[in-house]
Amino acid sequence: MTTKITAAELAVQREYMDKVAGINAQRECPPIAHVHSFGCQQNVSDGEKIKGMLAQMGYGFSESPEGADLVLYNTCAVRENAEDRVFGNVGALKKAKKQNPDMLIGVCGCMVQQEHITAKMRRSYPNVDIIFGTHVLHTMPQIIYEALTTRKRQISIPDCDGVIAEGLPLKRESRLKASIPIMYGCNNFCTYCIVPYVRGRERSREPEDILRECRELIECGCKELLLLGQNVNSYGKNIGTSFSELLRRINDIDGEFRISYMTSHPKDATRELVDTIASCEKVTRHFHLPVQSGSNRILKLMNRGYTREHYLELIDYVKGKLPDVALTSDIIVGFPGENYEDFRETISLIEQVRYDSLFTFIYSPRNGTKAAQMPDPVSAEEKGKWFRELLDVQQNIGCSSYKDYVGKTLRVLCEGEGRTDPSLLTGKSRQNIIVDFDGSKELIGSFADVEITEALAWALRGKIK
Ligand code: 5AD
Ligand code: SF4
Repeated sequence: MTTKITAAELAVQREYMDKVAGINAQRECPPIAHVHSFGCQQNVSDGEKIKGMLAQMGYGFSESPEGADLVLYNTCAVRENAEDRVFGNVGALKKAKKQNPDMLIGVCGCMVQQEHITAKMRRSYPNVDIIFGTHVLHTMPQIIYEALTTRKRQISIPDCDGVIAEGLPLKRESRLKASIPIMYGCNNFCTYCIVPYVRGRERSREPEDILRECRELIECGCKELLLLGQNVNSYGKNIGTSFSELLRRINDIDGEFRISYMTSHPKDATRELVDTIASCEKVTRHFHLPVQSGSNRILKLMNRGYTREHYLELIDYVKGKLPDVALTSDIIVGFPGENYEDFRETISLIEQVRYDSLFTFIYSPRNGTKAAQMPDPVSAEEKGKWFRELLDVQQNIGCSSYKDYVGKTLRVLCEGEGRTDPSLLTGKSRQNIIVDFDGSKELIGSFADVEITEALAWALRGKIK
């Protein structure tokens, strides 16, 4: 069941923000926080709330943990390497904490929502002062207040699944592009995935709350709204609305801006949704449709709820309705029990679809998931070989698909100076492809028509029309 955090509960947290701001105001100079969010866009979006609350509590921000008064790692649990990095980073703060015992170190987010991780932190990382889980993000002001005033370790990881907190302060990463969570959690239980365990059951925000946020952003000059959810295609199921309906309503807001979304699940992406996207002129022509594997046997073991044939039919429909679409996907290599024939099925699917780019991962066993119990006889070395084979295949596809854009004119949202060449401008096309082009700096923050002159490995080059 979904519970909206009440206004009274939020008011309590606002009081804590004021109290911490009061404490911080007594200092000679404002305290500095270093907040680092690992993992997906959803986590980065949580990071914006964390920073928003900290800003109200009087904190300034630094890019590095050096000299910070508060270091907070907002963690990800999807693969083991992200967890290892957090343990490494926290361990590396030992010396800094010795030099400045008043420094607060915190770890929050998905990783600490797992019992074995919290147990390890409690046991082996005494320099961590604050640990809080995904469901109590909105109580961070209280947690920080307690940590500052009692100097005792604060650990808050209740399993109170299903909350939605509206109206928390936000410090957005970009003025131009805003992330807007439309739903939280996941009900799919793909057998490899930790997300349903650490983010709880699926729950959708009310469309009115989302629309209000979108309108405010557009009024303030925002040009791209990125709608976020683990499975946006099942948005609204329990509150009598749908993702298509939400897209139509956001598309109706006045002004030139883009609507993008992450992530779609192929089992819930319907033809009706594809038709809606085709009819909404503000929705991007980029479909991220994670397939994970091209083998029906592996898809079944993954509990994905679709077959290779169903997926390919959907892709054909998308390509038919949206001829200018860019397709991307996520692939897992080396799922337990996968053999070379299964892997080759993935390669053949990739060759058939011809994705513009791929996010590829080697399977990482996650404690508590079904797949972690399955026999996994293939060696890490063998999986590494398959992984490299996949990258080679995709590199050739990606390079050749970009060539098709040469000579075409793309509408580009100009985001800033070029990363490698500051004399150029850089932006993204409606397909979410990076486009570098010559132009005056005044164009930054607006749309421009750019004629594509050259296809590079990861970007397009062009000139203003
Ligand atoms: N191992 C490897 N990759 C994973 N992903 C999710 N769980 C795992 C895991 N245990 C990948 C999937 C998903 C993306 C966000 O991360 O491809 O779509
Ligand atoms: Fe994980 Fe599957 Fe949910 Fe995605 S849809 S978050 S892969 S369980």
